[in-house]
Amino acid sequence: MQTSYPVIHPFTWMPPSGSLTPEAWYGQYTCLERGEGSWVYDTHGNAYLYTTTAVPAVGLGHWQVIRAMKEQMEKLSFASTCAQTHNLVQALAEKLISLCSRRYSKVFFANDGSGAVETAMRMVRQHFITRGESRREMFISLDGSYHGTTYGSGSVTHLGIREMFGKGLEGCLCAPTPNLYRPPAGTDSPESAAAFCLKELERIITEAGPENIAAVLVEPIQAVNGIVLMPESFFKQLRALTRQYGILVIADEVTTGLGRAGYWSLSEHYGLEPDVLAVSKGLTGGYFPMGAALISDALDSSLFGEGGILLHGSTQCGHPVGCAAALAVLDIIEQERLPDNALLRGKDLINGFRESLDDHPCVGDIRGQGLMLALEFVKDKQTKEPVDYEWGKKLTKLLHGEGILGNYFNGILLMYPPLNVSEEECDFLIHGVSRALRRMR
Ligand SMILES: Cc1ncc(COP(=O)(O)O)c(C=O)c1O
Repeated sequence: MQTSYPVIHPFTWMPPSGSLTPEAWYGQYTCLERGEGSWVYDTHGNAYLYTTTAVPAVGLGHWQVIRAMKEQMEKLSFASTCAQTHNLVQALAEKLISLCSRRYSKVFFANDGSGAVETAMRMVRQHFITRGESRREMFISLDGSYHGTTYGSGSVTHLGIREMFGKGLEGCLCAPTPNLYRPPAGTDSPESAAAFCLKELERIITEAGPENIAAVLVEPIQAVNGIVLMPESFFKQLRALTRQYGILVIADEVTTGLGRAGYWSLSEHYGLEPDVLAVSKGLTGGYFPMGAALISDALDSSLFGEGGILLHGSTQCGHPVGCAAALAVLDIIEQERLPDNALLRGKDLINGFRESLDDHPCVGDIRGQGLMLALEFVKDKQTKEPVDYEWGKKLTKLLHGEGILGNYFNGILLMYPPLNVSEEECDFLIHGVSRALRRMR
């Protein structure tokens, strides 16, 4: 009989091993037992509206997805896609291209979002080596960005994580972000913030030498960093700047993509025209771990135009059960027009939060796009000094009491309701969050 708790949880504080019994663990963290639609239930039978992560695109326990996976499981529960294939992987690649953009012509399947970004980085490097520009090894990404946990994707993440492990991949540079709530010093409008950041980006490119830079990675909305919104014009201008220096663009839409931000691809909507598009969370909606990297026609020609091999991949990528799950999830998102629902419900949520919380002394910002929403808390609305750690712990507890599982990080409450969330569930979220916050005054 195990007396100490044996699991290491990701990005989670682990109490000292000596005192860590299973009872101590379960006393501190919620243990979920079942889920249905937008709701999850813990082992005590308490119900929570599940807004913790962008993964459950179509809610939990959806019969259509379960049926598709079960049928696939019974027919072919595994197939390698290394020098073999099965009949769902092509259908899924075609579906993704048709939904995201016909600018893409090939898709690589990874096992998660980090894997999709890692793949994108490798493809870009291989592209430049093939073209005889092997010096182009460096990557630039934005301050506060989160791109994943693998060696490469972790090295282009600028959220204070990489430092824990030493240097990381060499040549990963950080450029400023035109954060609309916390703009760079000296800027006073979205336009001037965008202009400042583009100027800085150009300075970084020219100082490092454009001939050394492979790609700029960008999330159209920074997710983990707190649903950080940037001026829309920034993205087209970023593309123009990178083109000028022959640098590629990787759009990391692991969170924003496939309907979450209201569009199949937000970067497409913004006119970013990336060379690689990375997606994951909503792809299978949490029914199976999977990610994908879609490459532009031009990159396809460079890598495979004369035939070629990508020396990269995993034994389980393109898994047939994952493909069945993804095809079912994407069908639901498409048939039920869930990107439109995300825009509509997202606007209602923002308006509802503004109506009830605008005058709250600690609510510094209420923001979002589609069903990616954030409330940023401050001690003082003028100075924007963040609230302290204990404040967040108390709020999380109060939200629990209201039947809401959100995601509190660094003074910001992130909320990602499923894309098929109902109007009544949105009202529940607005009222529950507002009630909890009124007790925090
Ligand atoms: C924008 C972005 N990129 C990459 C990742 C990494 O995805 P995963 O956790 O599936 O590896 C995340 C995860 O939150 C993300 O938000």
